[in-house]
Amino acid sequence: MTPAPDELFDREGWWDPDCAAFRSLRGISEFRLALLRRWLPGDWSTRLVVDLGCGGGLVAIPLAATGARVIGVDVATTALRAATARNEPTFRAVAGDLDGVPVAPALADVVLLADVLEHVARPADAVAAAAGLLRPGGYLFVNTIHRTRRSRLLAITLGEGLGFIPAGTHRWEMFVTPAELDDMGRRAGLELVQRIGEAPRLWRTLRTGAIALRETPSLAVGYAALYRRAS
Ligand SMILES: C[S@@+](CC[C@H](N)C(=O)[O-])C[C@H]1O[C@@H](n2cnc3c(N)ncnc32)[C@H](O)[C@@H]1O
Repeated sequence: MTPAPDELFDREGWWDPDCAAFRSLRGISEFRLALLRRWLPGDWSTRLVVDLGCGGGLVAIPLAATGARVIGVDVATTALRAATARNEPTFRAVAGDLDGVPVAPALADVVLLADVLEHVARPADAVAAAAGLLRPGGYLFVNTIHRTRRSRLLAITLGEGLGFIPAGTHRWEMFVTPAELDDMGRRAGLELVQRIGEAPRLWRTLRTGAIALRETPSLAVGYAALYRRAS
């Protein structure tokens, strides 16, 4: 059964500079895009991308702007409307659960799970669904939050407590460890290609009021990973 959308995400304001609820997500989308372009260089206009849990399209729309064909899937229809309103001709929104995406299997060059796994009840099913969409040799990009005391302090106690992220966005128990993610990937036929740690850039975050990220070797807070489906 399709889960009900979370009202924290099923709302307007994704692209509105005055909307504080998405200020941090807007801030970190540039970091994600830079990482994606570095890990998967080349011509995006030839790629079919499926963005699972795309929200208002903060990652999907800039990719579509490069000419990539992007299918954005989300349960939050108001968020999807915000993405569609950006009028990128190669972006298509699909309302529904990422677990039962009505998209042909084994065709996508790239699948994204950007800041999504820590919000789903069965992350292993989400990873399996993502893998099923990939063509052989295609890539899954994931970023999510490790389940550590440090991530609880930074993402929940400080991040939500000081208002950088709306209160109630995260539940620590739902955070996913890198080992758990690797295991989910292995069981779905994916091999790890790259992984980096993500940590907040404290001064910039405090100065702008939006979480800004930097790369770090430590996986103790957040991390991004690239997996490849076996050919
Ligand atoms: C933190 S937001 C991330 C949005 C986007 N990926 C980004 O990086 O800006 C998480 C998104 O996942 C969506 N989501 C959560 N569970 C989902 C599910 N089971 N099926 C589809 N979308 C889901 C939410 O509605 C929300 O838009």
